Order: sequence, then C-alpha cells, then structure tokens
Amino acid sequence: MQQSILEISYLIGSITFIVGLKMMGNAKTARKGNLIGAAGMTIAILGTIFLNEGKVSGLIYGLIFGAIALGTIIGWLTAKKVQMTKMPELVSMFNGMGGACAALISLIEFNHYVHTEFPKLAFLGMMTGEFHPPHGFLLAIFAGLVIGSISFSGSVIAYLKLNGTMNKPLRLPAYNIINLIVLLATLGFLALMVYYGGVKLDRPTMMPNGSMVYILLALALLYGVLFTVPIGGADMPVVISLLNSFTGLAAAFGGFLYDNKVMLTGGILVGSAGTLLTVVMCKAMNRSLGSVIFGAFGGGSAAAGNAAEVTGSIKDIQVSDLAVMMNYSKKVVIVPGYGLAVAQAQHIIHELELLLEERGVEVKYAIHPVAGRMPGHMNVLLAESNVSYDKLVEMEDINPEFEQTDVVLVVGANDVVNPAAKTDPSSPIYGMPILEVDKAKNIIVNKRSMSAGYAGIDNLLFYDPKCSMFFGDAKKALTELVAELKTM
Ligand code: TAP
Repeated sequence: MQQSILEISYLIGSITFIVGLKMMGNAKTARKGNLIGAAGMTIAILGTIFLNEGKVSGLIYGLIFGAIALGTIIGWLTAKKVQMTKMPELVSMFNGMGGACAALISLIEFNHYVHTEFPKLAFLGMMTGEFHPPHGFLLAIFAGLVIGSISFSGSVIAYLKLNGTMNKPLRLPAYNIINLIVLLATLGFLALMVYYGGVKLDRPTMMPNGSMVYILLALALLYGVLFTVPIGGADMPVVISLLNSFTGLAAAFGGFLYDNKVMLTGGILVGSAGTLLTVVMCKAMNRSLGSVIFGAFGGGSAAAGNAAEVTGSIKDIQVSDLAVMMNYSKKVVIVPGYGLAVAQAQHIIHELELLLEERGVEVKYAIHPVAGRMPGHMNVLLAESNVSYDKLVEMEDINPEFEQTDVVLVVGANDVVNPAAKTDPSSPIYGMPILEVDKAKNIIVNKRSMSAGYAGIDNLLFYDPKCSMFFGDAKKALTELVAELKTM
C-alpha cells in the first residue's frame, strides 16, 4: 500500500514536470509553470522520505531536513539577490551542484555495492563457479559518475569565467587532441570498469578493491575542466546549456539505479530540454554543435575574422531632431540588445514606449533569439520594467513588419541587426538569421561608440544612408530623449 502511494506521488511529480515545462514556454504562464513543477518536486521528495519501506532513524531524518533547510535558505537568498545580468552565473553554479549530486550518488552506491553486494556475489561465485557482475547496474553507476563529474567541474569553470575570475580562454598547444585523448581514456576506463565489475580481485582472498573508481572520478573531473577552459567567456551560455543537458542525463542514470521514475523523468526532461536549447542557440548564432562539443570556438569574442572591410561614412542625429522624428511617427519598433542590459536602461525604455503611445504612436519590441548574452535575456529584462508581453514580437513575426515601420530604434544591439549575416559570405556571422531593420524607413542606432559587438566585426547597417547614430550610454541617451519628448 505504502509503495503504491509512493509510486503515485512519483507519477504526480512526473506529470507536474511535463505540465510545468510546457507552461514555461510562454512568458505569461512561465511563473505558474515553475511553481507547479516545484510543487510536484516537493511531493516526490516528501514521498521518498516518508513512504519508503526501509527503517529510518531520527538522526537520519534530522540530517535530511537539516540539509534541505540549508539548501533552501542558500538557494532562496542567492536567487533573490542575483542581478539579471548575473543570471548565467547562477544557472551554471546550480547546474554544477546537480552534476555533483549525481556523481556523489554514484560514488555512494558504488561503495555500498563494493562492501555489501560484491562480497555476496563473489562468495556465491566461489560456491557455484559462476560470477557475473551486474553490468547494467554498473553502467548506470559509472555513467552517472562520469557525466555528473564532467558537468560539475565544467560548470565551476563556466562560473569562474562568467564572474571574470578566469577571463582569458586558456589553450594548451594542440588542446583539441589532448581533450580527445582524455575523453577517450575516460570512456575506455569506464568500459573496463563495467566489464570487470569495477573492482580488482585480490586473489586468493577475493577481497574487492574499490579505489579504482576514484581514478575514473579524477579523469572525468579533469575532462570537464579541459573541455570548458579553452572556450571564451561570452560563449558560456551555450556551454552551460550543454552541461545542463549532461546533468539531466546523469540524474536519469540515477533514476535507473534506484528504479525511481520521477528521477528518470526529471533527468530526461532536463537532458532533452538542455540539448534542444543548445541546438536552438547554435542555430540562432550560426554555429555548429560539433564546434561547441570539441571546444573549438570563442576566443572571447566570436571568431572575428574574414569579414570584408567596411567603407563609407556615418551620420549622427541630435536628440531634438530624434524627438521630433519619433513624435510624428505612426509606428516605432524598438530593438533591444546587450547594451540595453549593460546600461540597465529597461525602465527608461518603457517610459519612452508609454510616452510615444500617449501621442498615438504604435510601439513594438523586436526580440532576436540570441540578443544579449543568455536565452530570453531581453524578455526577462523588459519584463522587469513591466513591458507588456504582447508588445514583444519574435524575429520571424516582426521581420515582415519593418517595411511599414517609420522608425526603428536599435538600443545597444549590434550583431543581431548586422546585414552582413545575409550579404557577406566571408563574414563570421554569415547565415545567422537577423532582424531585418534595414527595411524600415528610418534607422536609429544608439550605442556609445563605433565599437564592435560580440562577434567582433563591423556593422554594415551603420553606413546605410537611412541610418543615423544616436551616440551615448543607453540609459543617459534615452533619458535625454524622454526629457526632450516631454517638452513637445
Ligand atoms: P552585441 O552584438 O554584443 O552588441 C552590443 C552592443 O552594445 C555593442 O556594440 C556596444 O557598443 C553596445 N553597448 C554596450 N554597452 C552599452 C551601453 N551602456 N549603452 C549603449 N550601448 C552599449 O549585442 P546583440 O546585438 O544583443 O547580439 C548578441 C550577441 O551575443 C550575438 O552575436 C550572439 O550570437 C551573442 N551571444 C548571445 C547569447 C545568447 S543566448 N543571447 C549567448 C552567447 C553569445 P559600444 O561599445 O559602442 O557601446
């Protein structure tokens, strides 16, 4: 009976994960989806603690709830305090913790096996002349250990890169070959451990030697470091999403190990969502997944390189002229980018939007899938200043509207509006889908200088005869624009 209730609690947990994940696909329902998933997880955790058949002492309950309370307090405080621009760091740290948990579960289970199950099996083997280590069980243990450890050490490096502690990609000579050798050594050792039961028999006493598992652990931790270290800090969101999928996979192996359906479902969902997100990001940035996996890209800024040199002149616009232009427009589309986040100009841009709407101007925001530095960066930033969700229009939907747009205001965005992605086959961003702002009647670009964006290349858009530069820090420049509009 108890076991059936436990299974039902796992079923509820699994269903809430799926429903919650589906709801997270839409900004309006994302918060509720997150809460539903968390509620399902709470049910599954409480079920595991109270409905298990084994006897648990008061001390163990104390330890479990002590650890849960500590984790909840630390998680709550960190998530409450974190700034939006620091979100990738937080995600990488939380992800690393997930990987570490999966690896620790494997270590504990392996030690349990070595000290209890193995002597029994070995004894039986001596009696009957047959001894078969359970290969499937060992595979689940060692795969969880390796993948969880890679995810842990890789996430720690990603965290250090994102917070600026490790700000240069560190590349050993022939690092790709070294990485491949370490990866092959790890996988080879894993296969040997599974084949031989993971222990060395010290004949004639038949005592198992379980210390070899620590060699596997060390190899996997080393690979996680080597895999992440050569990659530039700005490319970390893609790597984190990939490591996230590794953590999901490691947790799914834990689910196999314990025959725990909710762990299996949760792990598979995290694994597949992380993989899909990685693929979507790579596609939107025009990179191949292979180049991510083999650590071959991203030296701080993306492979800036062979783009054709841009010649021509640029013109700038004064705040008073811009205010007049916007005031008498029918339709304005705002393109937010990384610079908006850096300047923390999300509140002032919302004020500008409201002011223009008061004057009868239709205002929309054009959202590129990789604008900023993390998935959904612009959506989250604008939600912070209460911009209505239905004003945020995805790239595919807004592109056909640019032709009827009087003014496009690009704020701190660069690569996501660079026409070279469509016109210059020698450009490193060639093939990346962009916001086609060059089709609008007037283009205004706000940034501080002519500096390149993340891809490290010139932007042809700035030299377009329809384009005017509105130089300055986004927050300061937009504050001046709003003040000017208010005088009209
Ligand atoms: P970027 O191309 O990086 O350009 C940002 C621009 O903002 C810079 O040119 C900079 O020019 C300007 N800027 C910086 N601080 C500013 C400030 N205080 N006020 C005004 N402007 C400021 O940004 P984007 O167009 O959003 O493109 C994102 C890039 O990041 C893409 O190449 C994408 O592939 C890459 N990326 C995205 C992600 C995700 S998941 N979103 C992950 C990794 C990489 P100035 O210095 O002249 O001001």
